[in-house]
Amino acid sequence: MIGDFMYGTPTTLLFGKGVIKHLPEVMAKYGKNVLLTYGGGSVKKLGIYDEVYKLLKDFHIVELSGIEPNPKYDPSVITGAKLCKENAIDVILSVGGGSVLDCSKAIAACAKYHGEGWDLISGKVKAKAALPIVDIITLAATGSEYDCGCVISNTAINDKRGYQDELLFPAFSFMDPEYTFSVSPWHTACGTADAINHVLEQFFSAPSSLFNDGIMISAIRSLMTNVKIALAEPTNYAARSELMYVCSWGCNGILSNGAGYSGWPMHSIEHALSAYFDITHGAGLAIITPRWMEEILSEKTLERFVTLGKGLFGFEAASEEAMARKVIRAFYEFFEEIGIPMHLGTLGVKAEKIEEMADHILANDDTSQDWAYVPLDKAALIRILEKSM
Ligand code: NZQ
Ligand code: ZN
Repeated sequence: MIGDFMYGTPTTLLFGKGVIKHLPEVMAKYGKNVLLTYGGGSVKKLGIYDEVYKLLKDFHIVELSGIEPNPKYDPSVITGAKLCKENAIDVILSVGGGSVLDCSKAIAACAKYHGEGWDLISGKVKAKAALPIVDIITLAATGSEYDCGCVISNTAINDKRGYQDELLFPAFSFMDPEYTFSVSPWHTACGTADAINHVLEQFFSAPSSLFNDGIMISAIRSLMTNVKIALAEPTNYAARSELMYVCSWGCNGILSNGAGYSGWPMHSIEHALSAYFDITHGAGLAIITPRWMEEILSEKTLERFVTLGKGLFGFEAASEEAMARKVIRAFYEFFEEIGIPMHLGTLGVKAEKIEEMADHILANDDTSQDWAYVPLDKAALIRILEKSM
């Protein structure tokens, strides 16, 4: 069944080799004063930085560099918003991965707000306006280039918040798969794990439909197949282009139009892990996935596992439960095969913080709500985290 829904996206995608040539005409729609945001230097090595300056020679560019993975409210968002206000910035140009783009989205809202920006990010206050955002995405992972969300860490209070607002959709996203040739094996694997998890978060919900299930199974199949090719041949355009496009569908809702809402439990758990231990988002998700699946396996969820087992893996099994166990094992082995260590301890997570993180998740996220597909209480969160160690 397809339930009721409302869907719309104002983002224009420019996809393919050399699309950057359209940058001047796109930027000219918004004005001459540009805040250029980027991370730790990959964009300079890639040559995109020089290309941007060449193409935007008639624009006035102010820079915010050094945006870190798991972008921080303080200093990145605060500094960026200040630069926008001081320089009467018209538009933000984000060049980099999801972290740079997420940070740019938060800056876009905070630049138009006169109070403490964290009030917007934490949902206390609704933004009335935001600067327009154009991005050149260089990593296939989050889907931030095609959605209106961002995830920002506030290290002072060990919080990592998902912040969504329709004002934060990028106006234009430039997606050139060749820019992802240089992504390391680690970030290629973690980015793909993130995107697979986005699909699974939406697959495990009710009601579902043949149509949505088909798109989602196809998305996961494409990601699982193409990541292995990209890891073996980093400059394989066909594989990198599929990864880039499929990843972009992850979080904008299109995969679950008309489906029930799941509560995104694995993301809630991972955001706590990243907030406390600054681990790579996709790695945390990959480790949690099979443990969460074991936790929610029940009469209610069996059908989801069987649909995945048959549709994605072509498995047969003596019983539905045996099928579910095979599916869980298959995800574990796949993540291990692409190079993700399947234990949180290896990433530096400390067991003594598990209870505190469980409390944090319950206080800040939707995982325990009755309307979540499978609500998780404190004991369940602790079990998942302990098994993931
Ligand atoms: O900082 P630089 O030098 O640019 O290096 C980055 C960074 O070290 C590097 N990189 C990016 N493009 C590259 C490259 N290296 C070589 N070649 C390239 N072409 O990769 C490293 C990781 O980058 P990052 O942007 O952190 O990765 P990702 O895109 O996976 O973003 C992760 C962040 O997004 C959030 C996560 O929580 C995390 O904070 N998420 C955002 C979502 C959204 N907006 O919809 C949804 C997701 O669920 C996720 O929570
Ligand atoms: Zn994610």
